[in-house]
Amino acid sequence: MNFAGIFAYLNYKVPRTRKTIFEILVKGLQRLEHRGYDSAGIAVDEDNGKEHKNGGCICLFRNKGKVKALADELYKQKLLDFDKEFEIHFGIAHTRWATHGVPNEVNSHPQRSDKNSEFVVVHNGIITNYKDLRKFLESKEYEFESETDTEVIPKLTKYVYDNRESEDVRFSTLVERVVQQLEGAFALVFKSLHFPGEAVATRRGSPLLIGVHSKCKLSTDQIPILYRTYKNNKNGGTSKAHQIETESLQRLHPTEEKSVEFYFASDASAIIEHTNRALFLEDDDIAAVANGCLSIHRIERSVGDLASRAIHTLQMELHQIMKGNFSAFMQKEIFEQPESVVNTLRGRVNFETSAVMLGGLKDHLKEIKRCRRLLLIGCGTSYHAAVATRQVLEELTELPVMVELASDFLDRSTPVFRDDVCFLISQSGETADTFMALRYCKGRGAFTIGITNTVGSSISRETDCGIHINAGPEIGVASTKAYTSQFVSLIMFGLMMSQDRISLQQRRKEIIAGLQTLPNLIKEVLSLDEKIQLLARELFQHKSLLIMGRGYHYATCLEGALKIKEITYMHSEGILAGELKHGPLALIDKRMPVIMVVMRDPCYTKCQNAVQQVAARQGRPIILCTKNDEESRKFAYKTIEIPHSVDCLQSILSVIPLQLLSFHLAVLRGYDVDFPRNLAKSVTVE
Ligand code: F6R
Repeated sequence: MNFAGIFAYLNYKVPRTRKTIFEILVKGLQRLEHRGYDSAGIAVDEDNGKEHKNGGCICLFRNKGKVKALADELYKQKLLDFDKEFEIHFGIAHTRWATHGVPNEVNSHPQRSDKNSEFVVVHNGIITNYKDLRKFLESKEYEFESETDTEVIPKLTKYVYDNRESEDVRFSTLVERVVQQLEGAFALVFKSLHFPGEAVATRRGSPLLIGVHSKCKLSTDQIPILYRTYKNNKNGGTSKAHQIETESLQRLHPTEEKSVEFYFASDASAIIEHTNRALFLEDDDIAAVANGCLSIHRIERSVGDLASRAIHTLQMELHQIMKGNFSAFMQKEIFEQPESVVNTLRGRVNFETSAVMLGGLKDHLKEIKRCRRLLLIGCGTSYHAAVATRQVLEELTELPVMVELASDFLDRSTPVFRDDVCFLISQSGETADTFMALRYCKGRGAFTIGITNTVGSSISRETDCGIHINAGPEIGVASTKAYTSQFVSLIMFGLMMSQDRISLQQRRKEIIAGLQTLPNLIKEVLSLDEKIQLLARELFQHKSLLIMGRGYHYATCLEGALKIKEITYMHSEGILAGELKHGPLALIDKRMPVIMVVMRDPCYTKCQNAVQQVAARQGRPIILCTKNDEESRKFAYKTIEIPHSVDCLQSILSVIPLQLLSFHLAVLRGYDVDFPRNLAKSVTVE
């Protein structure tokens, strides 16, 4: 497993001091900190890149712990001349989340080929055949120093280089040979002593993008893909490569002055302060920068592959990835929900005519409507968005709706048919289990729809069509605003599907009116923050917290409990109130804190029964109910009262107090809300 973050920076004919280069690399890593990591590292040139061939070297700085600690150490030690200027330079950096080997200096990335660091590599992902490769390289007397799977990559690169058939081998050719031997998932960036000022990057199953910045016009905004063709050698092998095409026309470079900067990153948030022009690499693309020109090549054309990679303009703004006045990204994102929900709805719902149009789906609507079943698939919070909307989707689409945890869905080899429509729900669009589920569904001929928050992500690219939830970048590891936006997106899908159903018009109108008032109601719930903080003070020393509810609010219980677990490390369980008598009631006594969600909807009476059962066992329920609910007040130890909305939207409101509660509990317990232990934002391994 590897959550990790990659950032690399190449300046070509843009003079930069070493200090500036360090600052750019350190800031790049800090923008990726939310992904979770336990060590960090940087590789830069010791001298001017050009001098390498005459004995210069690559310097590695690696440390267990925070990026800031690495930077402080670097400046303190004054090992290098920080004022030294580089006209051309390539620096690579990484945050590692320990998997193969404990977090320590030698296991951190960049990993190196040898003591001289002829080749250094940063890697996100996992190399599954690393043991075989290591055995092979050890048999050739390459010495290993770390316990990582990654170390085989620079060593194999050196092996290919040491055994090259011609002197003028290209850096990208070496990498191409190496990745052909790798199994698993990876995003890789390579730097080499033998190719000063050059960069090579590639990916398979793990995201990687390249940002470009130049003061002058670029030669193209579509980089054509170069397909390498090999002439067989005498033995029928392919070791002697001859590149047939002329590459000169196929590169991206500045047209006038030659200066250009390239940023390589596993996440767009790391590059946005430098440029909003970026291209997303596809699996098995090999991108190379040499002499300030970027080219991309592949060995084989795969089915459906586009002939070029477009430079996109990223919509992200810098302020969106800054904390502003909030103490944590999670808190900022909770408070952003009145706007993020509006952004999800924007341009899609016409509140006057009650028409709902999801641009990404409209050309496929006929096909979608022919389906026999909907499958909603996701992990963690994204799965909860499926649970939360299942009932209303059943009602609005009149179709059977299955909700599936991606990992379990795969474990069961669940039957999927050609007339199924499968939703892959994922904030990051990169979650490995959800992505594998997508491939599984596609393999069985089902129609696939992505619901993601990340343009250019693997899931958004590989699904037949999709809904972009438009929640804006979510940096906090604990998902909050993405949940409410996924929820709203699925509701809009139901509304679009039921547009022509006369019998459902009244219900549709009611829901659409509810969507219109939602942002203001969310603001009202957020105004309970202080009250919830007081409640957190009462609860933060407890070991456990139960959350019960049913119907539309079962998902709120699951999601609330997940938030509490992941950032407060308290035990918490979301319990379906209908199951109370079948076991959980045994947990109730006067010491066990219980939150019960009791809203004015068809489950109200049943929920009140559950409250009475808890009260009868000396339980002291904290009741999350609608405003002025006298009945709930009677049995409650405390109430959290929220405004009323349409039944199927009410759980967007009921989850927010639990998001706030988990935040305050974590702060009171002294934990770093944005960096929960053992967790990362994007889980790119199964
Ligand atoms: C919880 C949380 C995780 C994610 C899960 C899926 O706060 O963030 O449970 O929801 O890892 O991630 P995505 O939505 O990116 O597929």
